[in-house]
This record gives sequence, structure tokens and C-alpha cells, in this order.
Amino acid sequence: YEAQLDLSDIEKGTYPYYMLKEIDEQPTVMRRIIQEYTDAIGDTMIDEKIVKKIIASDRIYVVACGTSYNAGWVGKALLEKMTNIPVEVHLSSEFGYNMPLLSEKPFFIFLSQSGETADSRQVLVQLNELGLPSLTLTNVAGSTLSREADYTLLLHAGPEIAVASTKAYTAQIAVLAVLAKAVGDSKKNQSSLKFDLAHELSVIAAVMETIIDEKMSISQLVEEYLSTTRNAFYIGRGVDYFVSMEASLKLKEISYIQAEGFAAGELKHGTIALIEEGTPVLGVITDRKTAAHTRGNLKEVESRGAHNFVISLGSLSKETDQLIIPDVHPLLTPLVSIIPTQLIAYFATLQRGYDVDKPRNLAKSVTVE
Ligand code: AGP
Repeated sequence: YEAQLDLSDIEKGTYPYYMLKEIDEQPTVMRRIIQEYTDAIGDTMIDEKIVKKIIASDRIYVVACGTSYNAGWVGKALLEKMTNIPVEVHLSSEFGYNMPLLSEKPFFIFLSQSGETADSRQVLVQLNELGLPSLTLTNVAGSTLSREADYTLLLHAGPEIAVASTKAYTAQIAVLAVLAKAVGDSKKNQSSLKFDLAHELSVIAAVMETIIDEKMSISQLVEEYLSTTRNAFYIGRGVDYFVSMEASLKLKEISYIQAEGFAAGELKHGTIALIEEGTPVLGVITDRKTAAHTRGNLKEVESRGAHNFVISLGSLSKETDQLIIPDVHPLLTPLVSIIPTQLIAYFATLQRGYDVDKPRNLAKSVTVE
């Protein structure tokens, strides 16, 4: 794997920060994943042994930390839709103490960009002692979580240097989509069979590029909405909630704005008390089923003084929305709705004068428990 490392991968080149370079690389990573994991006619190429093991399971446990954990929730939506196997998503640091193994035939998927996260490895050690099957999705071949799991799928995202993970998040979701389709096709699941993943991922890559090309308009919006605030909320429903979780982590960990990602329907159960005059609330709306409800929640917070900022998918958008994303396949919207939020975090940090690549108190790979 080292031999494949292209020096340009680990040089900033003309970029001011690795994070911006890695955000910009995401369309290329999508195309590389299509190349690595689908054949000329768009069929998936996943080791048959992995597919068989998952089909034989009655419950999938996704185990991860941080951004990888947030990707795991999008993976749950993809896997359940295409395989009809129930999926649970767990934080590694919580799961290890009392693994609630509520199934006869569990299968474990570890998501880890570095493949070295101690919290995740301590779970894998226990699973290996119990002889339970595991797969690691990682960006680093030969990493501990890759070597010690039964199976590995690589993210092919190229080295991710910035502490704030961006291209690994979208690569994990894309590889999970490939895995879900491989299993779904094998089970003759209709949602899976009619899902032309290779084509849809190439559409994703193109839409990512259009958003990335508009980055300076995002910088202006950040100046208008986030320049002085101490806190901010991302809200959404379903996968838009899962994206809100990741969007808020990005904003927190590099700009130090106290951001929270909330299920839009949950605000009225307490959190809405935090909304004050001018509190930025960023709504993510990409799901036809939940769009109207999330817009209702945005109206509720606006009536309490919130400064709303809406990120919406074209066919669901209103002309008053701040950021409108071209339509993509409904199963893959997180791959594009996350892009503006990565850029929002990047520009908010720049405008506050902090180090985008090396935020305070954080390490790229957390190898301590
Ligand atoms: C991501 O922006 C964070 N830096 C952090 O949460 C990271 O995702 C987490 O530590 C997990 O790392 P891993 O994917 O290498 O296991």
C-alpha cells in the first residue's frame, strides 16, 4: 500500500490547509470507489465470503467513534433498506463494557479511517476471543483493525492528514452503499437490484464538484450567520439528522462553536429552550418524507428568534433557502448534503483565525482508550 502512495497525496501543494484539499478530493475518491468496487457493467465486486457471512447473520452491529460513528448511522439506513437485516450502531467506547448481543448470528462492521482507534480495537479483541465475525472498513491497509478483523474493505480515499475527517466520511458511506448493494443483490432485494449504484455515485461526484466550486458563496454565508455566535444547531430528520450529527461535530472540533446536531422533531422536548435571538439554526432537508415537518420545526425556532439557514435538495427547495443542492438518488443524499457543512466548518474556523488542520486538544488518531 505504501508503494501506491503518491507523494502529491501527502503534500498540501497550493492548498492553505489539508482539510480544504481533502474536501476537494471527495469527487475523485467517489470515482476511485466506483473503479475499485464495481465492474464494467456496474455490478459490485465485494469478496463473496463477506457477502455470505452477512447474509447468514440476523443482526449487524456497526461499531465506531466520532465521524466514523456518524457515517455508521447513514450506513444503517443503506444496509437496512437493501438487505432487510436489522442494524445497530454503537459507540466503541460504550459498546465494549456490556455488549448487548441480542442475536444468535451477529456480524460486526468496524468503521475506522485510521484503523488504529483504541476504543474500537478493544471491542474487536473481545469479539475475536468470542470467535464472532468482523469486517473493518478503513483507509489504512495493514492497520491494526484491518489485520485483526476477519475481513477488510479499503476506503481508497488516500491519506487523510487533517484532524477533521471529511473524505473518509463520504468514502465510508460510499463503500457501505457498495456493500449493501452486494448483499441486497445477492438476496434479490428489489431496492438493491434496481439501484444503479455505479451510475448514481458518478452523479454524486459531479454534484459534489458543483458544490465545491461554489465554496466562496458559502464563505460569505458563514460570515453572515456564524461570525460572532457562540453556539449553533444543525437539525434534520432521518438521514438529515445523521448528517446534522456529523455537521455539528465538524463545526465543534475546528471552530470551537458549541454546535449540536438534533433530531428536528426533538427540539420541542426541551432543547428549544436554548434558542435565543439570533441563534443560528441550520436545517438539512433532503428527504421528501420529512421535509414538511422539518420546515415546521424551522418555523418554530424562527418564531423564537433563531437565524435560520436552510440546506435543501433542489426538488424540495424554496427560493428562500440559503444553499440548494442538485438532486441525487434518495439513498445517497448524505454524500452531497455533508459537503456544504464541511465547508461551513472550514470557513468558520478560518474567519476565527484558528488552525484548521490542527485543532486544540485533538489528535488525528486516538490510540488511547
Ligand atoms: C473526525 O473529524 C474526528 N477527528 C474523530 O472523531 C475521528 O472520526 C474518530 O477519532 C474516529 O477515528 P477513526 O475513524 O480513525 O477510527
